[in-house]
Amino acid sequence: MARTYSETVPDPAEILAQRLKEAMVAALGSALERADPVLRRSDQRRFGDFQANAAMGLGKQLGRPPRQVAEAIVNQLDVGGVCSNVEVAGPGFINLTLDDDFLARVVTEAATDARLGVPTVTEAHTYVVDYAGPNVAKEMHVGHLRSSAIGDALARILGWLGHRVVRQDHLGDWGTQFGMLIEHLIDIGWDSGGRSSIGDLNELYRQAQSKFEGDAGFAERARRRVVLLQSGDFETVRLWEALVEESRNHFRRVYQRLGLTIGDGDVRPESFYNDMLDGMVEELDRKGILREDQGALCAFPAGFQRRDGAPLPLIVRKSDGGYGYAATDLAGVKYSVTELAGDRLVYVVDARQSQHFAMVFAVSTMAGWLGEGREAEHVAFGNILGRDGKPFRTRAGDTVKLAELLDEAVDRAAQVVESKSPDLPEAEKARVAEAVGVGAIKYNDLSNDRVKDYVFDWDRMLSIDGNTAPYLQYAHARIRSIFRRGDVAVPGENGAPVPAVRLGEPAERALALRLTGFGEATSASAAALQPHRLCGYLFDLAASFTDFYESCPVLRADSTDARDSRLTLCALTASTLRLGLGLLGIDAPDRM
Ligand code: ARG
Repeated sequence: MARTYSETVPDPAEILAQRLKEAMVAALGSALERADPVLRRSDQRRFGDFQANAAMGLGKQLGRPPRQVAEAIVNQLDVGGVCSNVEVAGPGFINLTLDDDFLARVVTEAATDARLGVPTVTEAHTYVVDYAGPNVAKEMHVGHLRSSAIGDALARILGWLGHRVVRQDHLGDWGTQFGMLIEHLIDIGWDSGGRSSIGDLNELYRQAQSKFEGDAGFAERARRRVVLLQSGDFETVRLWEALVEESRNHFRRVYQRLGLTIGDGDVRPESFYNDMLDGMVEELDRKGILREDQGALCAFPAGFQRRDGAPLPLIVRKSDGGYGYAATDLAGVKYSVTELAGDRLVYVVDARQSQHFAMVFAVSTMAGWLGEGREAEHVAFGNILGRDGKPFRTRAGDTVKLAELLDEAVDRAAQVVESKSPDLPEAEKARVAEAVGVGAIKYNDLSNDRVKDYVFDWDRMLSIDGNTAPYLQYAHARIRSIFRRGDVAVPGENGAPVPAVRLGEPAERALALRLTGFGEATSASAAALQPHRLCGYLFDLAASFTDFYESCPVLRADSTDARDSRLTLCALTASTLRLGLGLLGIDAPDRM
């Protein structure tokens, strides 16, 4: 992702990458103008702060010993004022060590900057991020936690980096199941008016389903009810709307508790596309994409096969003329690229739907909605497992309701807060417990590589040690407490001056170096659509801070200069933790 640098706060990684590119061209010719210097942060101090590993690949390409290539690049490399040492090591690694004064200046300037030194992207895209997407008349369950947490974090990160972000909550509010639901509601004399909770709706859904399966007469009425709903029958539509409204009240409460940035205007339910489906099918047909298969209209995108090797259809219109999930998603792709002007469509949906999305994207490409700079990606995620390694369920074997899970998290967090800070005022304790409980659940989800399954473990996620939200929140609160204890202004906050950072101790330098990596971590998360990269960075940052704090006294530093410099490092660390957690949708209380 291209980023601007140097107008405001210098970005070491950007500057080094730029200078290395110039040196590569100077040493090896203009054919290398687009070559990647393969710049990485070194994981060991003896390899410098950064490593450029391009020489290995280039050596092969040019038929020259990589070490010689690396030396040629270094001979042309101008990093005066940026690096204090440049070395060729091993088979041809270029090890780069930043100059202390330069590093100190970078972090001092970052501490004065509202964006902590991270510029916005130069090439902004319009991301349409589809996430949450619960289903009407069903309570949100743990599967929706993953989509909600990951989708909201990505939307925040992308937006913060300067992209345009359109959120889409693809509510499941349409389909044949509404026939049986409404028919059952009529049977029992249910009516709207805020008299039912979503818990009741969940139960009603179950009852309707068992009647549908066991009672042929009811099943037939349910089918007729679907037709009535589709044809806009007044009474039927009224009941359906009431059902949707009751459900949305529940979703709104859960979204709010989770701190999601989905507004009412972002809800784009399946039924929204109803009026567009006939036209969409006509367009696909006109473009020669559809074939009739046993009465249904299907697309057969290349590369998708049944087990027996026969081409696999994407059913666009069913044999009874009805539309399903695929049709709605196709209409959604078209709507997102035309009406919403999206050029990056991102679907945060569980991995079991991979084939569905791959086929929808393939057909959308055939239709010309995708391609030519417009891309779609299925941001897939794995399952949440119980400690037994099987899908996470209640003791009774039911799916775990998200609202209840959040209640339990906050209860458990309240115990942690009580044991850590018994003296906080009660109201503040409750606020902190909310932030820690909800934060623990979300962070636990985000910090795992999303495509993998993970085990839901209360003790792990609420632990104050390890890669957890409470650990990071605690690190943040601990830094804030330094300022309170010393009764000193926080550098950069409310116009307080920012003393210059001076680097002496190795742990100070290591912390400063780590602080310069925040922009890289957010960009990497955005590029790969993987929030866990930002989590990993924040965890490393907190660890660097702990090392620093153990070896460098702050309030009782030897000199005023050292104390002031360390206060600036503390302030920037706290701001980075708070901003980073904020981008993950997690609050960082000042005390805990
Ligand atoms: N309602 C679906 C579910 O609960 C998720 C919708 C995902 N978004 C989409 N455009 N298909 O599984």
